[in-house]
Amino acid sequence: MDLETAFIGRTFDDFLFRPRRGVVTSRRAVRLTSRLTRGIALELPIVSANMDSVTTGDMARTLALEGGLGFVHRAMPIAAQADEVARVKRSHGHVVEEPIVIPRDATLREALEVIRRHRITGLLVEEHRGDRVLAGLLSNRDVPWDLGGLDRPVEAFMTPFARLHTAAPDVEVREAERILYEHRVEKLPLVDGERRIRGLITKSDLSLARRRPESTKDAKGRLRVGAAIGARGDYLERADALVAAGADALLVDIAHGHSDVMRDAVEALRARHAGVPLVCGNVGTADGARFLRDLGADAIKVGIGPGRGCRTRLETAAGVPQLQAIREAWCAVGEDVPIIADGGAREDKDLFLALMCGASTVMLGSMLAGTDEAPGTVIVDPASRQKHKLYRGMTSPQAVFAALYDEAPDDSPFETPAEGQELEVPYKGSVVDVLGRIRGHLRSAVSYGGTDSLATLRAEVVREPLRYLVPLSAASRRESFER
Ligand code: XMP
Repeated sequence: MDLETAFIGRTFDDFLFRPRRGVVTSRRAVRLTSRLTRGIALELPIVSANMDSVTTGDMARTLALEGGLGFVHRAMPIAAQADEVARVKRSHGHVVEEPIVIPRDATLREALEVIRRHRITGLLVEEHRGDRVLAGLLSNRDVPWDLGGLDRPVEAFMTPFARLHTAAPDVEVREAERILYEHRVEKLPLVDGERRIRGLITKSDLSLARRRPESTKDAKGRLRVGAAIGARGDYLERADALVAAGADALLVDIAHGHSDVMRDAVEALRARHAGVPLVCGNVGTADGARFLRDLGADAIKVGIGPGRGCRTRLETAAGVPQLQAIREAWCAVGEDVPIIADGGAREDKDLFLALMCGASTVMLGSMLAGTDEAPGTVIVDPASRQKHKLYRGMTSPQAVFAALYDEAPDDSPFETPAEGQELEVPYKGSVVDVLGRIRGHLRSAVSYGGTDSLATLRAEVVREPLRYLVPLSAASRRESFER
């Protein structure tokens, strides 16, 4: 399908959405489910930018809990990035697959140190160091008030195997819940026929799954997380380490995704990790979107130069207004491959327009920077007492400088002159509150659209958005946005 001429040169502030007869009685009932990749759905259509002032493990973990997904940035050594990913994957799950163990002849002092270091509430005990044959369980309640026995062996305190409730490694979640409840226990070790430890199910993880049904989880109940790689230099080793750490999607993220560099990288990655979803970008044109679809991308990231930390358009004149770019991409690939609208969203309404015109999810940088979960410290202005944090483009001089000192890879984007900049953004508290506000506004926008789900409304609008959008004049823009 060809791009409608009304979108040429247009972006978010050029349109309003024409309200229609509402059907929802409570906006809370409005569903926001959308596709991130061909195989992964999100209950909140938001992903966080892979930028060093936006996404490490903390942001990714919180976003997944809230129903979105985070892409851990790559301006750090491979092992450090893989560790951030592993931290998210380990933080929740139906099953702890490799529970931490201690041998029965270790001292209580050693056991308490392990419990403290890993911030866990109990420890599986093995017969002999390294054999992973279950001997017992040392939980908080086994540890005496009077710690006089710190040098005695763990076996003197643990609940021994004979008194434990255990299950087979392939136990169903419902059955595990039943055993935990029936016997009023907190932990269910999973053992095979030879009593070897194959996993651990904890009550707190199972209850989290029930309390937070909207969170973004894999089949094992672990939070999902994405991670960025480049397309040159160490990107294949980086991909290997991230996949081993459990990354649910790799983001092949380069400034100019419609390029031979991208083609070569995707071919090499497919040969190595056939089953791992590949998100590819960035592109800003119909040709670029088709190119990535034909390469087999599982999601296409769209945005050349709209980002707040970005100076590409100012320095090179390369770019396409973001709503036009989203629309061009959708007209080129339709629903074959989900589109991620990346950059340029400043107000919550911008996300809604991006979704209505063709995006399936929206990537946010500056809107999520400034939160507790974004890296960096809060700076207090001594005069005004106002708090802020720093947000910077990944090719800003500051990010490039930091990356050099972090021994970051020597591939793109750090080799070009600056096309990014650093900004101060207001401190916003927890990202949970920011996401709660955006979720509320998206639900409200859907209800003005006359349906009770984003997917239903989008399916209608995306085919003919101009029937639903109101183009703005300079005067109507003033009336709408100047307050
Ligand atoms: P927002 O507007 O959400 O944009 O802050 C986030 C997106 O900006 C892009 N980005 C850059 N683009 N030079 C660029 O041309 C840069 O230095 C730069 N750093 C980030 C990126 O796509 C991100 O997701």
